[in-house]
Amino acid sequence: LSRSGGRLELTWANKDMRLLTHGADTYEWVDPHDWRVSEVRLLEHLDIVGDAGSGNLLVEGDALHALTSLTSLPGLAEHYLGQVKLCYIDPPFNTGQTFQHYDDAVEHSVWLTMLRDRLAQVRRLLRPDGSVWVHLDDAEQHRARCVLDEVFGAENFVATVVWEKADSPRNSARHLSVDQDYIHVYAQDKTTWRPNRLPRTEAGDAIYKNPDDDPRGPWLPGDPFAGKPYSLGSYEVVGPTGRRFTPPAGRFWRVSLERLQELDADNRVWWGPNGDARPSIKRYLSEVGDLVPRTLWRHSEVGSNRTSSAEVRRLFDGAVSFSTPKPEALIERVLRVGTNPGDLVLDCFAGSGSTAAVAHKMGRRWVTVEVLSETLSTFIRPRLEQVVAGTDSGGVTAVAEWSGGGGFDVARVAPSMFEEDEGNVFLAEWAVGGALADAVRAQLGFTPAGPAPFVGEKGRARLAVVDGMATEGVVRLLVDQLPESTTLTIVAQALEPGLEDLVRELRPGSRVRKVPRDLATTGQLGSRLVRLGAKEPA
Ligand SMILES: C[S@@+](CC[C@H](N)C(=O)[O-])C[C@H]1O[C@@H](n2cnc3c(N)ncnc32)[C@H](O)[C@@H]1O
Repeated sequence: LSRSGGRLELTWANKDMRLLTHGADTYEWVDPHDWRVSEVRLLEHLDIVGDAGSGNLLVEGDALHALTSLTSLPGLAEHYLGQVKLCYIDPPFNTGQTFQHYDDAVEHSVWLTMLRDRLAQVRRLLRPDGSVWVHLDDAEQHRARCVLDEVFGAENFVATVVWEKADSPRNSARHLSVDQDYIHVYAQDKTTWRPNRLPRTEAGDAIYKNPDDDPRGPWLPGDPFAGKPYSLGSYEVVGPTGRRFTPPAGRFWRVSLERLQELDADNRVWWGPNGDARPSIKRYLSEVGDLVPRTLWRHSEVGSNRTSSAEVRRLFDGAVSFSTPKPEALIERVLRVGTNPGDLVLDCFAGSGSTAAVAHKMGRRWVTVEVLSETLSTFIRPRLEQVVAGTDSGGVTAVAEWSGGGGFDVARVAPSMFEEDEGNVFLAEWAVGGALADAVRAQLGFTPAGPAPFVGEKGRARLAVVDGMATEGVVRLLVDQLPESTTLTIVAQALEPGLEDLVRELRPGSRVRKVPRDLATTGQLGSRLVRLGAKEPA
């Protein structure tokens, strides 16, 4: 930990740099301004499954690109920026093991940078009353807390849920059998975040008893003392058998003597089976509401690793398995605490697609992202198709009373609009005509707007994209058609000399930009490839 600007922060190698993802197993350190990490990618719409217009979205691509597109692309940002009620992520844990479907042995600094950059985008997507739930194991959970503090503010840390993932001890463990994972919960703003209470359970109710046949029904003996100083809370009380009671040192009666006597007259005070125990104030089952969510989540309530493996085996007929699925009941509890029907749920490390599947069954809207196309086509899409068709009878289907319906869109993070060859940056072959205009709008934050020849607007500025060389004639033609009191941004592949001055003279405040030169900033720092699984040189 190092102190910077008076704040305590976790620091790591290359913390000020960004990571470029190559597939799922190789990252490259690059300058934050490098176009390869700063470019806003388009999302290509591929398909609709079930009903159109559901608002549910399955995206293939790196989480960072996908989240940046959702926060920045006109047409998407309106629906997603500041709209997500809950984000649950279960990123690769960095456990040093090689999993069948992704490689997990990332250098700590790579892992922390990867997490930090994606959390920063998640934060932009969250509603002011939203929350983020980050599922981790011992490998990184302590470091991740520091990163979460940095991104969301330490004051917004809510709690860490401990999930009992093992339903029996691992007797093969060399030291101790580690039976739990952690879910760090942060609110976007803890002062306004209000979690839902959980419905009562039979097991929870069974601890209420009725040893004195109280007509009000079963009750629990409540602690009569509190640690908080209370001016009327220091007195001596005499019980039915004449025994005298005072609070232990440093504690106080919760109620005044007068109130205790009133409660006793109403048979709401319990003095033990023989009338000589210290008084407790009865808490009746009939008077307690739903349960406040607790932080210890037992496998008997929300399932274990074995439960989720069985869920995935059942969904995919035992043919293939996914290494790290999470139980539907676990996700159901997260969503029950943090969302209401109709709310938008995000998971940008989809895996087998459990978050989207549970959100769908619970009547929440969802967005989920997965980088590996094979994982998407083998697990996520078929699973969600079954949910829509109502043919997935496992997991929380019965609890959620789900019988099918709804739908989702399938999209893919588009390839970059730029290509690089021997250090030179070119426009990609696909970036022509309308596609070039789409890509330019995305980079410069313009919303689509006509009329032709203009293709976008941002405040008072109008955008024109020239697929080729901008000449003096083209510029004069564009300015002629420009509405009063607007400015012009022209983006072209080549510019005649002197055009920048001309356009500023014709319409002050206007500008000309050359693509790719002005849109693709190349990083100043040397880049270094880091392949997952390989240790960095000491
Ligand atoms: C631990 S698994 C998630 C399991 C999931 N919660 C479930 O219940 O099935 C992590 C997933 O994140 C994916 N992933 C890794 N890096 C990613 C990235 N940069 N963007 C999107 N997905 C990524 C992995 O391919 C893997 O499928």
